[in-house]
Amino acid sequence: MEMSGFSISEYHNTAEIYRKLDHLMSLPIYGIKRDAMSEYLQYFNEKCMKSKEIITEAKNFIPGGVQHNLAFNYPFPIVIDRADGAYLWDADGNQYIDFLQSGGPIMLGNNYKPIRDKIIQLINERGPITGLFSEFELKLAKEINKHMPSIELFRMLGSGTESAMAAIRVARLATGKKKIIKMGGAYHGWSDQMVYGLHIPGTGSFEAHGILGGCRKHTHEVFPNDIDALRKKMSTNRVRGGTAAVIVEPVGPESGTRPVDKDHNKQIRELCDQYDTLLIFDEVVSFGRIGLAGAQGYFNITPDLTTFGKVVAGGYPAAGGLGGRRDLMEHVAAGIEGGKKRAYVGGTLAANPLSSAAGYYTIQEIERTHACEKAGHAGDRLNKGLKDIIDDLHLPFVAYNQGAICHLETSGTMFVKIIKNPLKIKDILKEIQVRQHFMEKIGAAYMAEGLVTLAGSRMYTSLADDDSVIDDALNRFERVFKNVERPVT
Ligand SMILES: Cc1ncc(COP(=O)(O)O)c(C=O)c1O
Repeated sequence: MEMSGFSISEYHNTAEIYRKLDHLMSLPIYGIKRDAMSEYLQYFNEKCMKSKEIITEAKNFIPGGVQHNLAFNYPFPIVIDRADGAYLWDADGNQYIDFLQSGGPIMLGNNYKPIRDKIIQLINERGPITGLFSEFELKLAKEINKHMPSIELFRMLGSGTESAMAAIRVARLATGKKKIIKMGGAYHGWSDQMVYGLHIPGTGSFEAHGILGGCRKHTHEVFPNDIDALRKKMSTNRVRGGTAAVIVEPVGPESGTRPVDKDHNKQIRELCDQYDTLLIFDEVVSFGRIGLAGAQGYFNITPDLTTFGKVVAGGYPAAGGLGGRRDLMEHVAAGIEGGKKRAYVGGTLAANPLSSAAGYYTIQEIERTHACEKAGHAGDRLNKGLKDIIDDLHLPFVAYNQGAICHLETSGTMFVKIIKNPLKIKDILKEIQVRQHFMEKIGAAYMAEGLVTLAGSRMYTSLADDDSVIDDALNRFERVFKNVERPVT
C-alpha cells in the first residue's frame, strides 16, 4: 500500500460519474421487492423493540423524537447503545457495521482506546473544562500547523457551523467587501447566512425557513464545476459591494457527493486572486480524513482561511476551528481588549482541555497509524466491491469515492434538476419526495442487514475497517441489491 499521507489513491473520473448519474436520473425510480421490504420492516418490529419503545417515549420530550439531522426516521430511528471499532450496537443488542462514523470524525474507529485512555486520565487528573488557557490549545494549534502550513494561526471553536460563521466575519472585516459565494449543494453548517442552496444546487432559500431574507441577502450560490458562472458572479459583484470570500468544500459539495474536476479548486484560487477575494476551504470533513494536510495538501492549493470540525476534536465534543494567514486571523484576536475592531467569536466550551487534547492526540495517532491511507484503502475496496455488484446485477446505481468518503447513489435525490419555473415547482418537490422515500426504504434495508450509512447514500471509512469488515459489508449490500426491483415501465 502506498503511504502518500492521503486517503485518495487515484482521483475519480468526474465526467464518467456525472454520465452515470445522468443515466440514473433519466430512469424511473427503482423499488425494493414487496416481500423483501416487509421482511426488512419485520426486522424493526421484532428485533428493535427497545428502540421503538424509547423513540416512542422520546417523541413526548424531544421534537420529532430525535436530536440529529442524520438520524434515519424510517420506519423509526434506532437507538444506539454502544460503539467500538468498526461497529455499533443498538439498545436491543443488534450489531451494525458503522459507516456513518458520527458524520465523519471517527477516523481511528469508534471509542479508540489509546485516545480514550488519555481523555480519562485528563478528566481524572485535571478536569475537563476551566474557561482559561490550557497547554493543549497550543499543542493542538502547533500540531495542525505542522501538517497544514497555511494555518499560521488557529482559533478553536465549538462546531463547524461556528467556524464558517467566523470565517465569513473575518473575510468581510479583512476585505471590506460584502458578498459570499458558495457552491450550490454545499453544506457549511446551519447559520443564517449559510442555509442557502443546501443539498441541491439552485435551491436558494428553499430550506431557509425562519431566516430573514436580509440575513442571506449577500450569500450567492453558483453551480459546482461551473467556473464561468463563478467568474460572472464575481464580476457583477464588483459593483454590488464586492466578493469578500468564496467558500468551498474542496472535494465537492456535500463531501464530494457532487464531485468536482481535479483542477476546479485551482481555477477558483486563480479567480479569487484576480478579484482580490479570499478563498475559504471548508475542511470540516476533509481535515484528517483526506489527509492530515487536508484537501488543500492533496490539491496543493493554499486557501486564505480554513474551517475545521469533526476530526479536530478526535470524535469528542466541541469540534470546530478557524485557521489561516496570520494577518487575517489577527482579526479574531480575543481576550478582554478594548477599542479594537475584531470579528467577535466565542463559546463557553470552545477549546476546552478535553476537546483540545482529544484533537491533539488524535492527529498524532492518525499520523502514527497511517489512518488516512488505511481508511482510503478501505474506501477504495468498498467502492470497487459496490461497483462490481452493481455491474453484475445490471443496476443503474452509481458508486464513487474520494478515499475514505464513499458515495452510493441509488435514488439520486440530490441530483434532481431545479428549474426556476413556478409552474414546475410542485412537480420538482414531488420528485424530491419520491426519491427521498426510496432512499429511506433502502436505508432501512441496509440497517436491517446490519449496515449504518449516512442517509443511505454515503459511507465514511476508518482505520478500523480492515478488509474483512469491508468484505462482510459488501455481502450485506449485495443482499439488499438482490432485493431491488426494477420499475415497471
Ligand atoms: C462540510 C461541512 N461543513 C460544516 C459542517 C458543520 O459542522 P457542525 O455539524 O460541526 O456544525 C459540516 C457538518 O456535517 C460539514 O459536513
